Amino acid sequence: MGAEAVKLDYLLGIDLGTSGVKALLIRPDGSAVASASSAYQLYSPQPLWSEQEPEDWWDGVCHAVGGVIAQAGIQAREIRAIGLSGQMHGSVFLDEHGNPLRRALLWNDQRTQAECDWITETVGHQRVVEWLSNPVLTGFTAPKAIWLRRNEPQVWVRVKRLLLPKDFIRLRLTGEYATEVSDASGTAMFNVRKRAWALELLDAIDIPADWLPPALESPEVSGRVTEAAAAATGLAPGTPVVGGAGDQAAGAVGNGIVEPGIVSSTVGTSGVVFAYAAEPAVDPALRLHTFCHAVPGAWHIMGVMLSAGGSLQWYRDTFCAAERSVADAIGTDPYELLSREAERAPVGAEGLIFLPYLTGERAPWPDPLARGVLFGITRRTDRSHAARAIMEGVAFGMADSVQIMQEMNVPMGEVRASGGGARSPFWRQIHADITGLDHVTINTDEGPAFGVALLAGVGAGIYGSVQEACRSTIRVETRTKPAPPANARYRELHAIYQGLYRHLKEDFVRVSRFAESG
Ligand code: XUL
Repeated sequence: MGAEAVKLDYLLGIDLGTSGVKALLIRPDGSAVASASSAYQLYSPQPLWSEQEPEDWWDGVCHAVGGVIAQAGIQAREIRAIGLSGQMHGSVFLDEHGNPLRRALLWNDQRTQAECDWITETVGHQRVVEWLSNPVLTGFTAPKAIWLRRNEPQVWVRVKRLLLPKDFIRLRLTGEYATEVSDASGTAMFNVRKRAWALELLDAIDIPADWLPPALESPEVSGRVTEAAAAATGLAPGTPVVGGAGDQAAGAVGNGIVEPGIVSSTVGTSGVVFAYAAEPAVDPALRLHTFCHAVPGAWHIMGVMLSAGGSLQWYRDTFCAAERSVADAIGTDPYELLSREAERAPVGAEGLIFLPYLTGERAPWPDPLARGVLFGITRRTDRSHAARAIMEGVAFGMADSVQIMQEMNVPMGEVRASGGGARSPFWRQIHADITGLDHVTINTDEGPAFGVALLAGVGAGIYGSVQEACRSTIRVETRTKPAPPANARYRELHAIYQGLYRHLKEDFVRVSRFAESG
């Protein structure tokens, strides 16, 4: 065979995030070979609006994929299969040629409360829950389509297809219209129990079913890289692209959350608690999402906080110019300094409580008008209390979801901590102390791109199942155990924290009316 002997043994994961796209190349043993990313812009032309340009995503993908292949120094044809992951819930409105008709409305866009109410009233709350297993929330896709019909009818009449963000990349890569069940679950148009589009609901709200692509299981092959896409990206034509997963399900596969008993807690901009579920169990109060998992035939339950790491980032950017310049001068991460500062304050920050609802909230309170609060300031309050209260407030928010899962009898042996927030051992200790559960870290922290690279390996037949892919690549590396005295203190404070939102709920509505009228 000589020069013809090509070793086909790399897997590529592409994660289309909100701040940029990441391409990750791994070997089947899970080791990372190279990764490259490319950033793009986020537009907020009005308060509550959040949009991106799908063409920017595609440019970013071409750049990151080209970069990762060059960096790894491999032949493109050595890539055995590709998995796609991405920000969920976004709406990409396309014309008959598959070209975007306007910017996509993103997962964190909050403009559609009126449309959510309209869908729920039109369909009826009971049937919404029966068909979707979830409420209709502002970030989800269906209300965005209704918003388009009401506000941009000239665009609406030209729409022929509606895709999720990563599925637009699939279209560009393979020429195929397709999605998969985990991402489809977040559209408010998908019957999560049946793993199929909710046709009765589409009919009731007048969204044409033929706008939506087939929904595959995540490891299934959805198409192959076309000649044109190969020329644009440097990939080899014919490379299979599997269904992939929404970023949360993908990240969960990358964390090994593919069987009962292990839960993940991921602190990025948002904060997500994620549990595997063998059945589509629904929280009766609908505070958590019940979606299809990227594991065929399984589901997952998840609580999504909108500003987790985002809260600490806001604090760093708004109040920590000094820490940022010191960090710059000594070559360290400003978060490391914030962490050290927070460590100087005692457990509970002497009663200073932070509510992390800077961009509204989803779990445990689906409320776009909720706001951030720093409660309990005294003359003794200093920067260390503030930093600690913010870290604790985020951890309380995550623990709210853990608590609801415990009420639902979700088995919970340990929590796998990941995302930028998990890098701080001090913050991990806070999470462990608040939940009373061990928080562990694993050998990889490559996020959703890693999860979909594993799904690509399942689709290519390298691993026999998603569980086998995880077992052969993921190991626990560190374990943080809760300290009982801190846990007792936090239980008391958590109850006060939960009461604050209830007391302030109506005031958030009033203050938002005030701000709008100015
Ligand atoms: C999940 C969610 C976010 C987005 C953006 O429900 O809204 O994770 O997918 O990352």
